[in-house]
This record gives sequence, C-alpha cells and structure tokens, in this order.
Amino acid sequence: TVLIIDFGSQVTQLIARRVREAGVFSEIVPFQLAEEAFRRIQPKAVILSGGPASTTETGSPRAPQIVFEAGVPVLGICYGQMTMCVQMGGTAESSDHREFGRAFVQVEKECPLFDGMWAPGQRHQVWMSHGDRVISLPEGFEVFGKSEGAPFAVFGDPTRKMYGIMFHPEVVHTPDGAKLLQNFVHKVAGIEGDWSMAAYKEKAIETIRKQVGSGKVICALSGGVDSSVAALLIHEAVGDQLTCILVDHGLMRKNEAADVVTMFREHYNLPLILVDAVDRFVDALEGEADPERKRKTIGRLFIEVFEEEAKKLGGAEFLAQGTLYPDVIESVSFTGGPSVTIKSHHNVGGLPERMNMKLVEPLRELFKDEVRVLGKELGLPEHFIGRHPFPGPGLAIRCPGGITREKLQILREADAIYLDEIRKAGLYDAIWQAFAVLLPVQTVGVMGDGRTYEFVCALRAVTSVDGMTADFYHYDMSFLGAAATRIINEVRGINRVVDDVTSKPPGTIEWE
Ligand code: XMP
Repeated sequence: TVLIIDFGSQVTQLIARRVREAGVFSEIVPFQLAEEAFRRIQPKAVILSGGPASTTETGSPRAPQIVFEAGVPVLGICYGQMTMCVQMGGTAESSDHREFGRAFVQVEKECPLFDGMWAPGQRHQVWMSHGDRVISLPEGFEVFGKSEGAPFAVFGDPTRKMYGIMFHPEVVHTPDGAKLLQNFVHKVAGIEGDWSMAAYKEKAIETIRKQVGSGKVICALSGGVDSSVAALLIHEAVGDQLTCILVDHGLMRKNEAADVVTMFREHYNLPLILVDAVDRFVDALEGEADPERKRKTIGRLFIEVFEEEAKKLGGAEFLAQGTLYPDVIESVSFTGGPSVTIKSHHNVGGLPERMNMKLVEPLRELFKDEVRVLGKELGLPEHFIGRHPFPGPGLAIRCPGGITREKLQILREADAIYLDEIRKAGLYDAIWQAFAVLLPVQTVGVMGDGRTYEFVCALRAVTSVDGMTADFYHYDMSFLGAAATRIINEVRGINRVVDDVTSKPPGTIEWE
C-alpha cells in the first residue's frame, strides 16, 4: 500500500488514481489522522499531497515526523514538498513570485523519478500551483530540476529515497506526470503493480458485505452510469437484500424515467420501484433561484422520499448512492476535510444531519472513467456505459433563475433535440458531457412576420477525463447552426441559441 497524506489539495484523489493506474493500491488520509494510519497500514511508501496552506503560517499542517524516520520512500508534492523540506531541517518562505498553471522544469541531473523520460539539459512542461518556495535544502538533499520561479523545483535524497517536487505530477497538464508517479512507485519504492479493477471489484464487494451484514439496502437509481454500477455492485454483494428505487423528481431528461424502468426491470431483473414525486419536487422548487438552495431542497426531498419508501418496505437501514470522488472532493469541507466547498453536490452536501439511514457509497473513491471500467467488469453493455453523466439535481441546475414547470418543459424539449443532433452527427462519444441550459432572460426576435419575446437557450458541451477539469468542445459552426435552427423551430418558448465556450476551471461544467 501507498499512503497518501492529504493536505487539502483539490486534486489529491488524482494522486491515488495515478497510483492505481500504476497497479498499486493506495489509501488517502487527512493529515490529522496520518500518524495513526501510518502505524496501522505500515505503507511501503508515502506521498504528501499539495494543499492551500503556507508552511510559514503558524499552525500550518505537518506530516507526522514518523513518516520521515521510518525509512520508507517519501514523495512530497507542492505543499508536501515544502513541509518535507521544513520538517527535515531546510527552510522555506512565502514568495512574491507565485507560479500558477503552465511552467517548465529544467532538468539538472539524472534522477530515478525521471527514469526513461527526462534527461539532464532538457526542459519539460509541468503544471504549477504554489506560493511558497524553498530557501535552503535539508542536509543530504540535492537539486534535480529547476523552474523559473522555483530553483528547487525537484529535490531529493536518493539514499533515503525522499523526493520533493514543486509541480503537480497528478494532473493531466503535466504530460509526463503519470510516468513520474509510476517511477516513484515502481523504481524508487520498488513496489510491484499487480492491482486491477477486477481486484477493486472484489474488495468493494467484500466491504459492502461487511458494512451491510444482513441488513436491507435501498438504492437510489437514477439511470445514470454511477447509480447503475453501484446498484449492480451491491446486487452482486448482497443479492435480494437490495431494492432499487427510482424517484421521478420531474427534473429528468425527456423519457428518461420510463426508459430506465424498462431497462432495469426487463434486462437486469433488479427489483425496482418507481416513485412519482414530480409535484412534490417541482412545487417545492417553484420560483427558487438560488443554486445552493435548489441543491439543498432537492437533497432534502430526495432523502424524505427515500425514508418513506424504506418504511413501506418494512425498514431498510442502508441507502446506497453512486457518489463519485469529484462529488466528494468538491463538497469535502462539509465533511470536515481540508479543502474548500465549490458546490454542495446533492448526494453529499444536501443530506440532513439526522438521516435515518446509513449510506453505502461504493464508488466514493472512483472517477467517472474508472466507474466505466468497473461497469464493464460487471457486464454492463458499452452503449449504456458510454452515456454522458447527468447530475443528481438534474434540470434544476440547468435552469438558472427561478424554476417553473414551464421552463423545465421548454428545457427538456431543447435538451432532447440538442442530444439528438449530437447523436446524428456522430459526436456523442467524442463529447464527455453535453446539455442545454435555459437562461432566465427573454430577448426579442422575429419569426414569420411577428415579433417574438422568448427565452435564450445555451448549449454546453465539454471534453474531460474525470470531470475535475474540462475543455469546451470545439464545434463546427455548421453543426451549431443546424442544432440552433432545430431548437428554435421546434421548441416554443425559445427564440435564440448561444454556445458556451468556457472551460473548467474557471467555469464549472454545470451552470449552477
Ligand atoms: P461541475 O459542474 O462541478 O460538475 O463541474 C462536474 C461533474 O459533476 C456533475 N455534477 C453532479 N453530479 N450530483 C451529481 O451526481 C450533483 O449534485 C452534481 N453536480 C454536478 C456534473 O454534471 C459534471 O459531470
């Protein structure tokens, strides 16, 4: 096992993911719990994550000293590098010259981390995000790479197998980063890579069985890939102790509820109950414009409906959800972790404090594309696994401004046409996620010989690997023109269409 100590970076889970890709199991613990975890797990290597703090602030987080004294290989990333430097006897200061985003590392010396990819004298692109910098190295450490803002961009002590790097190797914007982490795990720490998604599945099943015992589980099935994979996994683990419930909250895409029911009942034979809660949700959301309140309201009602259904089934103790890691990290300050809340994802942050069911979330550690691999492992068909992600709060967060039944209906129609055009153009699989957004503004148009005053529809499409970062999809103008024409012609209530060309960051994928 590789132990990853989390100092609150938004991308810590990507480190775990890269280590998994190198075929090695890893566990993430917040720095406050790291000492106990280190003693319990006895890891073969430790990685210290980045984080928002500065080592120069009093009371800023530290790694437990035992990590540096136990003789295991250690890799410090960004803040992890800084705290390693300071804890080993070096010094750091906060710097005026902050580096964010793309930077270049100048390789100074051969280093096992660079094995098979970087040679002295070369420059390589990396992704930086830091404010502090190293002033003096701890004894026994030497420099392997520099950057413009960081003369100690890569340092280490090969004898003790401890390395620190200023940039983030875990993000895709450091093109050789995955290989660098692989080198740390395989070459520096000498750990063999024999872990796989099949092994993950077995372990997940075991964990579910342990957690659930002989209890009953109900699963919030939405028809999306995540909840479907979660349901199949739990079904494999505990069989008929599982009942799936699909809540039609009136915020789904066109025909979605009916399609999902058909598929799961007919093809998978999973016990599935369809709850019609459209009025309950839409009445509660009527006129609501605040994104966080929308999410919280939906989260609260969701749980209420589930508790009622659970009672009807004679009391289930567990509620299963297909929560993924990006949902967790972006809500993590809610659960007391060290990073900042961007959105309260309804399946994590909206849960009322006193919920009567315990959560089963077998996908909490995974990213979307890993869930797809797991889905294949569980026998789900390709076309289903390839479906675009759809958020729990559904169309509510694609309808900025006050929600009304009418606007939801307009949005649903526009979205269906947009996706239909994408499929017909053969673009569906090239796009990670595409959807329409109905803007709360009306603009003037002319149709036939008359004046129109109707809503604006925005088209969103992004490419992404994991939902954490995303690029807007570069459409051909003729495609956009055709889709816009169809939407305006066929949907009453929309007379103008615009395309969203924002990437993430600085935007998020959804509009709310
Ligand atoms: P953002 O908008 O944060 O979205 O860039 C990243 C990915 O997460 C999806 N998303 C959600 N999924 N419950 C979910 O199950 C939610 O509350 C939620 N909010 C966003 C979003 O569609 C995108 O794929």
